[in-house]
Amino acid sequence: MMKSFIALFILFNIVNAELPGTWPPLDKPAPAVAGWSSLINATNVTNALILPPFTSCAQTSGYCRAPCGCYRDEILNCPTKKDWSLTFDDGPSDYTSRLVDFLNAQNVKATFYVVGSQVYRYPDVLKKIYDSGHEIGVHTWSHSSLTSLSNEQIIAEIKHTELAVWQVTGIATRTIRPPYGDCDDRVRDIIRQLGYKLVLWDSDTQDYLSNSNPKFDLNWIAGNFTQWTSKDKGKTGHISLEHDLFPQTTLAAERAVPILKKARYNMVTPATCNRISAYAFPAPSTHSLSTTSGGVPSNSTSKNNKHIKK
Ligand SMILES: *[C@@H]1O[C@H](CO)[C@@H](O)[C@H](O)[C@H]1NC(C)=O
Ligand SMILES: *[C@@H]1O[C@H](CO)[C@@H](O)[C@H](O)[C@H]1NC(C)=O
Ligand SMILES: *[C@@H]1O[C@H](CO)[C@@H](O)[C@H](O)[C@H]1NC(C)=O
Ligand SMILES: *[C@@H]1O[C@H](CO)[C@@H](O)[C@H](O)[C@H]1NC(C)=O
Ligand SMILES: [Zn+2]
Repeated sequence: MMKSFIALFILFNIVNAELPGTWPPLDKPAPAVAGWSSLINATNVTNALILPPFTSCAQTSGYCRAPCGCYRDEILNCPTKKDWSLTFDDGPSDYTSRLVDFLNAQNVKATFYVVGSQVYRYPDVLKKIYDSGHEIGVHTWSHSSLTSLSNEQIIAEIKHTELAVWQVTGIATRTIRPPYGDCDDRVRDIIRQLGYKLVLWDSDTQDYLSNSNPKFDLNWIAGNFTQWTSKDKGKTGHISLEHDLFPQTTLAAERAVPILKKARYNMVTPATCNRISAYAFPAPSTHSLSTTSGGVPSNSTSKNNKHIKK
């Protein structure tokens, strides 16, 4: 009895191994890292006011805030009609693995915009996403609205997540979806200088509302996909937004795939359909950022990944 309990405990621990190394507090805005702040030229960043955390579009910085009706060069869709990008934010989580199995069985590639704090908690799930050939982008370290952070914090939010993903997969991400889609010219300038492309969406399932609104009918998610695909008069393809942080939204996501297949959409990632690179090439063999940081992730070689189940 005791033995099997211990065996189970060990197995559970391996499956849920946390990311080795030293990381900032989880789910809190990442503190500035001196070595990373100098990656950008701050005099070339729009001097917009730092805003309160994003709750609605009532608050604007006066500098073209998305998703509040002003966009610049963000990717919002796939340029080619009949292309469709399935994207999932806020993971990895306990529920992601099942979704990846489903997508793999369906031979469909999706994109996961991951939260660094969740990568810390679920490195093995991130590895599975990557090994299965799905695309990975950054969704920040703490899921804070970027317009509410200083320049230095924005950089740290992105780079800590990039470093966590790199430590697990060896790839260096170059696409980002900001939490809430929230960005203005200041945020755009920083993201551009870091070599990243912003990816938003044009088809929002609003599935996350099911977490707070008991009246949210999960059938609406499939209902939206049916509506979008049966009356698609658009000149472009689409990027849909879903979330793999909650069990009910992750399960509901499976129902979209047969709907898209029946309507004969090609399921491609936002980077592929927009002909950009999701990652930096060549992939760094040692992450250059890990040595320049102010003592934060000071020894993040892939060798430290021995806890991660292969
Ligand atoms: C930073 O940008 C400003 C404005 O474009 C430019 O004048 C300055 O030379 C840049 N500094 C560095 C170190 O590149
Ligand atoms: C600095 O900003 C200007 C315009 O805002 C832009 O044209 C230029 O490419 C930027 N330079 C750098 C090094 O980012
Ligand atoms: C699409 O989702 C919205 C909620 O986000 C819902 O009000 C609407 O009824 C859904 N449409 C269909 C056809 O299910
Ligand atoms: C970094 O890690 C390697 C092996 O994981 C170890 O041999 C080395 O001493 C570490 N270096 C520092 C500065 O901690
Ligand atoms: Zn999010």
